[in-house]
Amino acid sequence: MPITVVHTKADLRSEVARLIREHAGRRGSAPSLGLVPTMGALHSGHRRLAEAAVAANDVVVASIFVNPLQFGDPKDLERYPRTLEADAALLESVGVDLAFAPSVEEMYPGGDPLVRVTAGPLAGKWEGASRPGHFDGVLTVVSKLFHLAMPGPAAGQPTAFRAYFGQKDAQQLAIVRRMVKDLDFPVEVVGVPIVRAEDGLALSSRNQFLSAEQREAALVLSRALRLVDERATAHEPLEPDDAVDLIKSQPGVELDYFEVVDPDTLEPLAFNCRETPFTGEALAIVAARVGDVRLIDSMPLKAR
Ligand code: PAF
Repeated sequence: MPITVVHTKADLRSEVARLIREHAGRRGSAPSLGLVPTMGALHSGHRRLAEAAVAANDVVVASIFVNPLQFGDPKDLERYPRTLEADAALLESVGVDLAFAPSVEEMYPGGDPLVRVTAGPLAGKWEGASRPGHFDGVLTVVSKLFHLAMPGPAAGQPTAFRAYFGQKDAQQLAIVRRMVKDLDFPVEVVGVPIVRAEDGLALSSRNQFLSAEQREAALVLSRALRLVDERATAHEPLEPDDAVDLIKSQPGVELDYFEVVDPDTLEPLAFNCRETPFTGEALAIVAARVGDVRLIDSMPLKAR
């Protein structure tokens, strides 16, 4: 089916309602609805999100919106790639029904919103420490997208409403989950595993700004994550300082943080990390600057 691209909230609402009604009419039962929020410039990582949504839901909507509220640096916002035609083609090839690509004026008609969703203490560390306000911007737009995509009573309620986020942005995923829990959004948040290039680099729209040499240097991040992952799997002490040393020894890479944290609270593991064999589950997170490109990566850890 060709994808429908809409640019206004009114058209999004009426198209979602139409898709839900049509599906219910064909099947005789209420469908499930999947939402894939994106900022466009879609790559194979986003493809994986869309595929997961299409596999699990009857109707799937993707949003494409470069959200100014989550950018601190205006230059970063300006140079963020906008590739709507290619994005729509990728979404269509996967089977997404509807793309919502609003303008900034459509999303924030009165200018920047005065009232925002605040992410609280979870936003003050890791990515949030160097990007003040970033996660408030993310939560504000994500909560708007949840409201906008959820069909009104006239269309009939979907059996499930699921929203898909990449595990690569581990802090974003944890904070969105927390918002849904704390504010009772009727949404099931699904975390989709990171997609990596063959050389191990986590896919990101920022990778295109890396030179060949910088890209080679950036591979140290996934190597460091694999180091602790192998130890976790083998039920050995993680000793994350070894991963820190590995990254610091790589010329051209400036480490911001490497930590092993609790996946829900994002607090560093106080125990279960050094000297004692690793048990249970955790999350390794890393951020570094390679040239002027800031890269993040993460890996869920599980003792087997
Ligand atoms: O992960 C992203 O691309 C963005 O932060 C999101 C969730 C689409 C909100 O703008």
